[in-house]
Amino acid sequence: ETVEWDPTDAGKGGYDHYMLKEIYEQPTALRQTIRGRSNQLDNRAELEALPRGVFSDVESVHLVAMGTSYHAAMYARTLLADRGIPAQAFLSGEYGSNPPPTGDRTLVIAVSQSGETADTLSAIRSVQGTGAQTLAVTNVVGSTLTRECEDTVYIRAGPEIGVAATKSFSAQVATLVLLSERMSQDIQGGTPRATSDLLDSIAVLPDDVQRILDESTAESVAKAYHDSDSYFFIGRGIGHPVALEGALKFKEITYDHAEGFSAAELKHGPLALVTERTPVFAIFTGRNDTKTLHNVKEVRARDAPVVAVAADGFGEIDEYADHVLRIPDTHNDVAGVLANVQLQLVSYLAADELSRPIDKPRNLAKSVTVE
Ligand code: G6P
Repeated sequence: ETVEWDPTDAGKGGYDHYMLKEIYEQPTALRQTIRGRSNQLDNRAELEALPRGVFSDVESVHLVAMGTSYHAAMYARTLLADRGIPAQAFLSGEYGSNPPPTGDRTLVIAVSQSGETADTLSAIRSVQGTGAQTLAVTNVVGSTLTRECEDTVYIRAGPEIGVAATKSFSAQVATLVLLSERMSQDIQGGTPRATSDLLDSIAVLPDDVQRILDESTAESVAKAYHDSDSYFFIGRGIGHPVALEGALKFKEITYDHAEGFSAAELKHGPLALVTERTPVFAIFTGRNDTKTLHNVKEVRARDAPVVAVAADGFGEIDEYADHVLRIPDTHNDVAGVLANVQLQLVSYLAADELSRPIDKPRNLAKSVTVE
């Protein structure tokens, strides 16, 4: 008797797909990301490669990235703006061909899992010689991006094989939260901000993700809705990039139409498409939740099924949603990471119900090295 053995399965560690393995690796990945970087003793974020004061002269930040990394960049833009630092996120494929003005007080941050995305490399090349400071936020040690940028911060997620990015998004966001804190320390002077509640939330983030993996009810959501034609994802603030990322993951691996947008946009067009056949995923991160709840009431009035992703403490939502995917109560800045894990599970389980080739979706590549 012979045992069927496929060498490509060897790395999956018992999981059916790399994507699922990488979703479950997130607590470990996040522990690596934050190790030694969150100093709770004197309330400081430290990023080893960057000496104190390296950002003192920065007046504005441009974040450039594509795909899932672009959603992490959008997320970071909001974190920086909350700290009084002017920041914008750009698709690097647009930035390189239509570069906005930069100067020696501009910091350009390239966010890329692989460090090899052609559009992102070309965005960085477009600012070389303008005096702008450049920083790579990447997973891959020694990648091209790290050689083209002045400084690098590694996200330390470990190798990611699945084409659909999962643990790299969580590790990017955790890194960018620490970076935002670090920049605000430099720009606003020597005194540490009162960030202890955020640092506390970062410290328990790996355990919070583990709790979601252990307790998620995403399977019942995936079973209930995997045969709809169209799905919408809405959120506000950091919930907006999480909505975009939820929709991107869903379309990449289920091949169904999925669209994410700011909950604020709903009444300006998308509501025309909302019917009883379009499940709406609503993301609540603890800020402006009442406004998003109002949008949920609007889609319910059109009979759309509602799946909410909301904190344990947001009990009011139970009355208005068909399903609630719970996340532990935490700081708003990291709540988006937790919400996204629930959406990763829904996408994965829905694609699995549809027997899609989850690790190698049609027409997509892990790393896009042509413009
Ligand atoms: C491709 C991948 C995405 C990824 C994007 C950016 O489109 O399929 O998963 O988010 O490239 O890749 P990067 O390596 O720059 O993060």
